[in-house]
Amino acid sequence: MADTKTATLTFGDKTLSLPILKPTIGPDVVDIRKLYAEGDVFTYDPGFTSTAACDSAITYIDGDLGELLYRGYPIEQLANQSTHLEVCYLLLYGELPTADQLDDFTTRVRRHTMVHEQMHNFFRGFRRDSHPMATMVGVVGAMSAFYHDSLDINDPWQREVAAIRMVAKLPTIAAMAYKYSIGQPFVYPKNALSYAGNFLHMCFAVPCEDYVVQPALERAMDRIMMLHADHEQNASTSTVRLAGSSGANPFACIAAGIACLWGPAHGGANQACLEMLKEIGTVDRIPEFIAKAKDKTSGFRLMGFGHRVYKNFDPRAKVMKESADEVLDLLGVHNNPLLQVAKELERIALEDEYFISKKLYPNVDFYSGIILEAMGFPTAMFTPIFAISRTVGWISQWKEMIGDPTQRIGRPRQLYVGPTRRDYTDLAKR
Ligand code: CMC
Repeated sequence: MADTKTATLTFGDKTLSLPILKPTIGPDVVDIRKLYAEGDVFTYDPGFTSTAACDSAITYIDGDLGELLYRGYPIEQLANQSTHLEVCYLLLYGELPTADQLDDFTTRVRRHTMVHEQMHNFFRGFRRDSHPMATMVGVVGAMSAFYHDSLDINDPWQREVAAIRMVAKLPTIAAMAYKYSIGQPFVYPKNALSYAGNFLHMCFAVPCEDYVVQPALERAMDRIMMLHADHEQNASTSTVRLAGSSGANPFACIAAGIACLWGPAHGGANQACLEMLKEIGTVDRIPEFIAKAKDKTSGFRLMGFGHRVYKNFDPRAKVMKESADEVLDLLGVHNNPLLQVAKELERIALEDEYFISKKLYPNVDFYSGIILEAMGFPTAMFTPIFAISRTVGWISQWKEMIGDPTQRIGRPRQLYVGPTRRDYTDLAKR
């Protein structure tokens, strides 16, 4: 590296001068766009551990400090002082709204909470025991078959309508997937309720009884949504961007993001974590599971621990832990065995040399499952709730990408390790 403006790369008889790009915060970025054209080489970075794939002004993470900023605002301040819909506005438009702007945005979202009635039939085509994430991937993808007036990605107005539709309808779709899976009738959205309150209502109301949303649970749900709203270029967001880079419609792109989120290394970890806590069952079995997590041949990892970027602590986990204490207190769940196992597992892991040396700390998914279970959600609904919350992040990132004049189709290169050219042999001669 030569100076602060360029990096010098020498290989063979070539020397290339590569520009260094300056972010507003965070590490400098070596611009290698001309590397192949001028140097005839590719870079190799499986898992993208050192590669910036885009410019973005939405979310910033400092993994060493354990800091997460949405448009510059610390997540702790937003989680304590804002609401999910206000955070949605912030992520989508870049600034906190005025009272009038928030009012207008809330009205626009509310007007789109129902899904096309014909979509109800679509749900009924799934098996009742389908995982709600499977249903969501299908139904969100199918939105492009229902909302033809928001598919033109070159029209800013259509992009805006698609964004509002997805923020508004994802809670309805997730709640419908849940209701369908338990054999209960779909509950229509109630627009007088808050975003989080309406979601709880659609999940837990039944036609034969009134359902009253408890303010503390509504607030906890809203916080869960804010904490998961965006997380810069994570796997599902990168999936949305890559899908969108080909010009695919926004509903197809978000369906791709939901499919990626489902994996246990990503959003599926909240379900996997709670299932793991249940499997451990009692505090005395923790050492057995810690030993298994350290044994590379076991293929087992402590779910809810570790993060690609956070190497100090996950700031979302800190807020989530406070929320878990509040919700469990409110619901009078003091001796929950799962909570005891979780607390003890956290204590032991944080003192263990393996976890300390690899900087493996509890992540957001470690605590979210405990709260959601206490609220009455089955584990299969944990990842759908993550998907609802992350929808605004995916759309904000997608909109940012489509609006970027330098945007091109995403097309990674490879280090080819397969056979070199060879001639086809007849079947009889093989
Ligand atoms: N339990 C035991 N060992 C672990 C764990 C874990 N949870 N996570 C990482 N390690 C070890 C891993 O075996 C490796 O060891 P070594 O260097 O000896 O080969 C080292 O730590 C680094 O792991 P890695 O897989 O190279 O790290 P990564 O950055 O590729 O993966 C991760 C990050 C989150 C996928 C991983 O930590 C993991 O699988 N955690 C469990 C799943 C989980 O909780 N995921 C939710 C992430 S937060 C929510 C979200 O963003 O979706």
